[in-house]
Amino acid sequence: MLKIDILTIFPELFGPFLETAFVALARRQGAATVAAHDLRGWAQDRHRSVDDTPYGGGPGMVMTPEPLIPAIEALAGAKGPDRKTRVVCLTPQGQPLTQRKLAAMAAGPPLLLVCGRYEGLDQRILDLAIDEEVSIGDYVLSGGEVPAMALIEGIVRLLPGVLGNPRSIQTESFQGGALLEGPQYTRPPIYRGLSVPEILRSGDHAAIDEWRRKNAHTRTRERRPDLLARADSETAADPIE
Ligand code: ADE
Repeated sequence: MLKIDILTIFPELFGPFLETAFVALARRQGAATVAAHDLRGWAQDRHRSVDDTPYGGGPGMVMTPEPLIPAIEALAGAKGPDRKTRVVCLTPQGQPLTQRKLAAMAAGPPLLLVCGRYEGLDQRILDLAIDEEVSIGDYVLSGGEVPAMALIEGIVRLLPGVLGNPRSIQTESFQGGALLEGPQYTRPPIYRGLSVPEILRSGDHAAIDEWRRKNAHTRTRERRPDLLARADSETAADPIE
C-alpha cells in the first residue's frame, strides 16, 4: 500500500481526479491512499496568506516558509534520516520525471507531493523541508497541481494488481527498452479507405513481433533520435527504464 499525500492551495482540483479510472481503482483496491491537504489550513493570519513579495524585487509572489514548512512537517515529519516519507516538490527547476523515477516512487516510501504556486518557493523551504525537486518537462505551468496528477497517474498504474494485464506495461514505450511504440490498430479492418496492415491480421506471431520491432525503431528514429542515442550509450543490462 503506497501512501500519497498532496499539499496544495487547491485541494478541490483533485476531487474528480481521485474518483476516476486507475487512480480510483488503485484506491478502491487498497493499493494506494491518496489525500489532498489544504495548505491554508496551516496559515496563521487573518487572510490565510501563503505567499509574499520577493526580496530583491521582480514580478510575482513567492511562497513563504510559514505556513509551508509547518505543514510539511505535520504531514511528513522533520527532514532528516528519521523521516519515513519522501517529500517531493513539483517545480520546473526539478530533475526531469522519467519512467525510471516513477518506478522507483511506486516501489518506495510514502510520498508527500508539494505543489508550488506563484513564482516559486522561498529557498529555505527547499533547504529545510524538501527531499527532491521534480519537473514534468521544460515548460512552465501555473502550479504543481497538474504535475502532481501526472506523477500520481504514472505511479498508480505501476502498483501491483492495478493494471489488469502487466504485459501492457512491459511492452509499452520506455519500459524495458528505449523505443517509442509503433502504430496500433483495432477494428474495423478498413476505415475511410485506410486498411489495417495485412500482417497484423495474419496470425503469424513471429512476423507480427518483427513488424512491431521494426516500426518501433523507425518511429523512434524519426521522432526521438535522442532516445536511440541514449539506449546506445547504456548497457544492455541497464535499459533506460
Ligand atoms: N510547476 C510549474 N511548471 C512545472 C513543471 N513543468 N513541472 C513541475 N512542476 C511545475
